[in-house]
Amino acid sequence: MSGAKKLVVGNWKLQGSRSANAELLQGLLAADLSASAPRADVAVCPPFVYLAEVVSALQGSAIAVGSQDVSAQGQGAFTGEVSAAMVRELGARYAIVGHSERRSYHGESDQLVADKAKAALSHGLVPIVCVGETLAERESGETEAVVGRQLQAVIDTLGADLARVVVAYEPVWAIGTGKTASPEQAQAVHAFLRARLTAAQADAARVPLLYGGSVKPDNAAELFAQSDIDGGLIGGASLKAADFAAIARAA
Ligand code: G3P
Repeated sequence: MSGAKKLVVGNWKLQGSRSANAELLQGLLAADLSASAPRADVAVCPPFVYLAEVVSALQGSAIAVGSQDVSAQGQGAFTGEVSAAMVRELGARYAIVGHSERRSYHGESDQLVADKAKAALSHGLVPIVCVGETLAERESGETEAVVGRQLQAVIDTLGADLARVVVAYEPVWAIGTGKTASPEQAQAVHAFLRARLTAAQADAARVPLLYGGSVKPDNAAELFAQSDIDGGLIGGASLKAADFAAIARAA
């Protein structure tokens, strides 16, 4: 999708407090991203409990909001779950699904992740579907098999709606480790994902492909310059307004 605007999304993970969020958002608003980072669409994904407050703080700004997960269920006796309809009602635009931390710590299967993407879409949210291999999988040459399998569940489940998702490639070995995939390594996997999506459905060629895994102000520009990298999903660096703004400006 070269030429199009990049999408830069901050995943706050299990971090924040009302006062820390207010300070971070104030910093982001002061950075005036629509003027200073005109080539980036920007979103932040706080924990569920802060969604309403963050949406309201960002009202009128160019920064969108997303959740970090969403239930595959609609409603009913599912204690602890948060539905896509609820997230949408609060004013969010995106929902991250299938982050590797949910796949590994909460045992989420490829099919559950695909069902979550479907639930998000059916309630007007754009799912950001994460895929990625572990270090052991990369070292044994299984990267394409793993991300291909993770993506295939989404392709099979979404059918004609496939073109409406965002996909994030997050190599597990690069998350929070300070190790980043080289631009060439990331580009190679993105090209593979693009080819898989396009083979499944011509329209899906334009699905934005984000890279995530230790994106920082000093490596963002090089990553974003790759032809199949359409933006980033940022963890640690999204918690500092100056760093996140610098990443958006690198788009
Ligand atoms: O979802 C973003 C993420 O997993 C990357 O985290 O801290 O390596 O940027 P980090």
